[in-house]
Amino acid sequence: MSIEGKVALVTGAGQGIGRAIALRLAKDGADIAIVDLNEDKMRAVAQEVEALGRKATTFKADVSDQKQVYAAIEHTEKELGGFDIMVNNAGIAQVQAIADVTPEEFDKIQKINVAGTLWGIQAAAKKFIERKQKGKIINASSIAGHNGFALLGVYSATKFAVRALTQAAAQEYAGDGITVNAYCPGVVGTDMWVEIDKRFAEITGAEEGETYKKYVDGIALGRAQTPEDVANFVSYLAGPDSDYMTGQAPLIDGGIVYR
Ligand SMILES: NC(=O)c1ccc[n+]([C@@H]2O[C@H](COP(=O)([O-])OP(=O)(O)OC[C@H]3O[C@@H](n4cnc5c(N)ncnc54)[C@H](O)[C@@H]3O)[C@@H](O)[C@H]2O)c1
Repeated sequence: MSIEGKVALVTGAGQGIGRAIALRLAKDGADIAIVDLNEDKMRAVAQEVEALGRKATTFKADVSDQKQVYAAIEHTEKELGGFDIMVNNAGIAQVQAIADVTPEEFDKIQKINVAGTLWGIQAAAKKFIERKQKGKIINASSIAGHNGFALLGVYSATKFAVRALTQAAAQEYAGDGITVNAYCPGVVGTDMWVEIDKRFAEITGAEEGETYKKYVDGIALGRAQTPEDVANFVSYLAGPDSDYMTGQAPLIDGGIVYR
């Protein structure tokens, strides 16, 4: 167990990719702080973590609020007795033509996906430095962080920004023994894609399910990605095998975008 006894905080861990990451890091031996907006879902994931024999704690926080992110880390340290791994996973999607994006839509997604990741990096690094220890920070980017996709322009912009923050933070914190990397999934069958598919249907007139199928049909490995496919890679980023890696945002997408 590569991260036995470590403490990991995962944002957006109430469902989907974040839940799978929380469970995988628990299987790897870490105690887990589950941070999300949805208390019922957080409690359910906490029970799953505990069933794996690890400690879990939950904390309701909106990652777009800097103070709440700092509070989540304080809570984690107090409840779990340490803090070693920060996974800035929480994020939202937005399907909108460039022509129709409103200032309100733009601000909302920037605050959650970009500022939420920024506060997570900042607060985690501050805590690692205060504790005089090494730490790992892992951020959620996307294939949309490597490639702009039609009707996902602003979402793509936020995920490019996550890569930029990852690269800058990796350089700023390398001297403190902190590594900063990101993961870039492809088309993962979560609630996020249910919403994306619905919005595509509204905007383009496609049948419901058609856009998801079109994207999945384009995957070289021939199937949609599971949250566990993503969590397997995050396990590597959280563990000692990735100690010499920083500032990177590798694609793990079954073969959609090639870099
Ligand atoms: N699903 C995909 O195909 C895919 C692909 C690439 C990248 N991603 C990224 O992976 C991450 C997780 O995606 P998912 O598919 O599991 O999404 P999801 O919508 O299924 O789950 C997201 C979770 O984040 C929480 N959340 C949303 N806003 C929050 C906020 N402001 N503060 C705290 N928690 C908040 C939600 O309550 C939810 O539990 C996101 O950053 C997403 O952009 C997803």
